Amino acid sequence: MVTEQGRLSNSFIKDFVRYFFLDVRYKNDMKIQGEELWEGTSTALLKALHILTRDGKLNLDSRRKLKQVHHLTRLIEPTINKLASKNESLNIVDVGAGKSYLGFILYDLVLQNLTGTKLTAIESRPELIETSKKLAMESNFNRMEFICSKVEEVALSENADVVCTLHACDTATDDAILLGLKNHARAFALVPCCQAEIASQLSLHHALTRHPLHKREFGSHLTNVIRCLFLNAHGFKVTVTELVGWEHSMKNEFILAEKISTPDHPESLKARAQLQELVNEFQVKPKLLVGFFD
Ligand SMILES: C[S@@+](CC[C@H](N)C(=O)[O-])C[C@H]1O[C@@H](n2cnc3c(N)ncnc32)[C@H](O)[C@@H]1O
Repeated sequence: MVTEQGRLSNSFIKDFVRYFFLDVRYKNDMKIQGEELWEGTSTALLKALHILTRDGKLNLDSRRKLKQVHHLTRLIEPTINKLASKNESLNIVDVGAGKSYLGFILYDLVLQNLTGTKLTAIESRPELIETSKKLAMESNFNRMEFICSKVEEVALSENADVVCTLHACDTATDDAILLGLKNHARAFALVPCCQAEIASQLSLHHALTRHPLHKREFGSHLTNVIRCLFLNAHGFKVTVTELVGWEHSMKNEFILAEKISTPDHPESLKARAQLQELVNEFQVKPKLLVGFFD
C-alpha cells in the first residue's frame, strides 16, 4: 500500500478509485431500483400483491419482477393509448397471468383512466385466480375479469384486442398468439418464457445444434423467430427488443406486434414463404403452425 518513498502505491490508488466508483454506482443503482421503480403505482396495491413488504420494503426477487412489469407496462402503454383513441372499447388479455402483477399494474397506471378498456386475465391455477379476484374487488378495479382455464381451452365471448404474455410457460405463448388471432387481436406484447418444444425436435447432427446447450439456446431463438414470422404472415409489423437489462432476467426478449395489413399482402406472403423455408430447413413442426400451410 505504501512505497519505500512513503507514498501510496499506484495499485492501491487504482483499487481505491475503482471501489469508490463501484460504491457510488451501487448506491445509484439501488436508488434507481428503489422508489422510482413504482413511481405512480399505489403503494397499497404493491403491498397487497406482496411486491412490497408490510413496512414498504422491496426484496431482490420483487425488485426484479417489479422492474420487468413496470418496463412492460410502459412499453405497451403507447399501443394501448393509440388503439384506445380509435376504438370505443378495448379488451387487453393477459395470458398465463400468474398473480396478475402485470394486469394490476397496467390497470393502476394506464387503464384506470381509459374507461372503455378492460383487462382479462387468463390463468390455469384456481388459487391465483381467487386471490386476484378478491384484490380486484377490494381495489375497485371493476373492469378486470379473471378466467380460470388453460389458454388453449378458452372460448372468449369478445375480441382480444391486445394480447400480453409475461413468461407464460413453454407453448402457452403460442396458444396466446392463436387465441389472439382467433379473437381479432390488433396487437401482441409478448415476453416469452423458456420453450422446449422446438429444441426437442432439432437434430443433433446439425452443426448449429450439436451440443445440448446450443440445441437449447438455438431452439429458443428459432422458436421466437418462427413466432415473429408467423405474426408477419398474418399482417403484423413486429419489433423485437430487450425488456430489461440481461442482469435482471434471462427471459428478456420483448416482441411487440401491431396489425398493419392482411395475410394476403405481399409482405405477409413473403414472411409466409420465409417461414416455410425455415421449418423445412430445420425439420421442425411446432404446434403454432399446425394447419397453417395446408
Ligand atoms: C412463470 S409464471 C408467470 C406469471 C406472470 N405472468 C408473471 O410474470 O408474474 C407462468 C404462469 O402461466 C400459467 N400457465 C402456464 N401454462 C398455462 C396455460 N396453458 N394456460 C393458462 N395459464 C398457464 C402458470 O400457471 C403460471 O402461473
